[in-house]
Amino acid sequence: MRSFEELLRSWGGEQAVFRYDEPSGSWMFVCIHSTTLGPAGGGTRMLVYPTPADGLADAMRLSAAMTLKMAVVGAPFGGGKAVLAVPALPGGEERRKLLLRYGALVSSLGGMFRTAADVNTSTPDLDVLAEVCPYVYGRSETLGGGGDSGRGTARGVFHGILASLRHVYGTDELRGRTVLVQGLGSVGGRLAADLAAGGADLLVSDVDAVRAQGVAASLGARVVAPEQALAAECDVFAPCAVGGVLSRDSVSILRCRIVAGAANNQLAAPEDAERLRAAGILYAPDYVINAGGILQLLGLEDLGWDEEVLEEHLAGIGATVGEIFLLAEREGISTGRAAERVALARLSGDQGSASGDAGRPRRGT
Ligand code: NAI
Repeated sequence: MRSFEELLRSWGGEQAVFRYDEPSGSWMFVCIHSTTLGPAGGGTRMLVYPTPADGLADAMRLSAAMTLKMAVVGAPFGGGKAVLAVPALPGGEERRKLLLRYGALVSSLGGMFRTAADVNTSTPDLDVLAEVCPYVYGRSETLGGGGDSGRGTARGVFHGILASLRHVYGTDELRGRTVLVQGLGSVGGRLAADLAAGGADLLVSDVDAVRAQGVAASLGARVVAPEQALAAECDVFAPCAVGGVLSRDSVSILRCRIVAGAANNQLAAPEDAERLRAAGILYAPDYVINAGGILQLLGLEDLGWDEEVLEEHLAGIGATVGEIFLLAEREGISTGRAAERVALARLSGDQGSASGDAGRPRRGT
């Protein structure tokens, strides 16, 4: 693993702030990749890493991805990410004290970095952070926060799926279409419910068999065993569990026409976007289609949106995804490459034809 020094030299972001937290033996890394479009925004991940440098490398990589994500959906934020590299996941009072010390660090940055939940952090942790730090999104609704971002994420994915269907079949009618939702947690569970309500023929899959059975029974869906999910015949495969599901090996066994789901980092390698294109599978870039949670928190907490305005912006994710598909087709490039072009154009001040303005206030703000 490379040293902190080597990582910083090769990263390309604006600044990284580190702190060694002596009482817990944890490292705190706040990576501010870009503030070109606004203060850097990104979740705080709490994880045990093999070495502190692995934690820093993760924060750097994820912060760069956040820059593209914010840009492509038109959110007035730059990209950032924080990692708490802990020796073991803490609980109780130990966790609370760590979060308060971390909150003080974020607060000291004066709003240049704003955070929300990520792997191993959730709404109760954000409530603790907010005791000492005003730059926190996703607190409990009872405390004035925007709540669990899984709701907005799921709804954005739903609109992205409709846009994908329109692109491939010329209609977004769900009746007669088979959609497989992989992972039935905060996002996948809600997405499955929306798809069932729309009349889709629903397949569901989760490593938690009890959860899969429960969702299937309540929505009238069929359960697919986790190891058979990739090869299941369907119109839309919606990965809502883990990253890295689209690889050289998996692309060759997929039997779907569209991949459109919430999971982060679905491509095992960037070239896999091209492999999907070559296989005739339409891929909705993950960081575009899964940006609804950001719009939910930003809209409800900062921009004064009500539910109706939020829904309008979440539908805008579908419009952005559709524009990326058209750009990819026109230019003969993968949808992954097209999304990156839209994001980079926005970062350089050029709106381009794919406007990517899902987060721009349209009314009511
Ligand atoms: P979650 O932890 O609530 O649910 C994940 C579900 O996937 C669980 O039911 C788990 O049992 C299942 N699962 C895990 N491994 C699996 C496998 N190999 N095959 C099938 N099922 C498996 O997570 P959440 O919040 O629903 O997020 C889902 C994905 O969407 C994650 O990749 C997350 O990074 C991404 N995402 C979530 C956002 C949010 O607002 N919650 C925002 C953007 C992305």
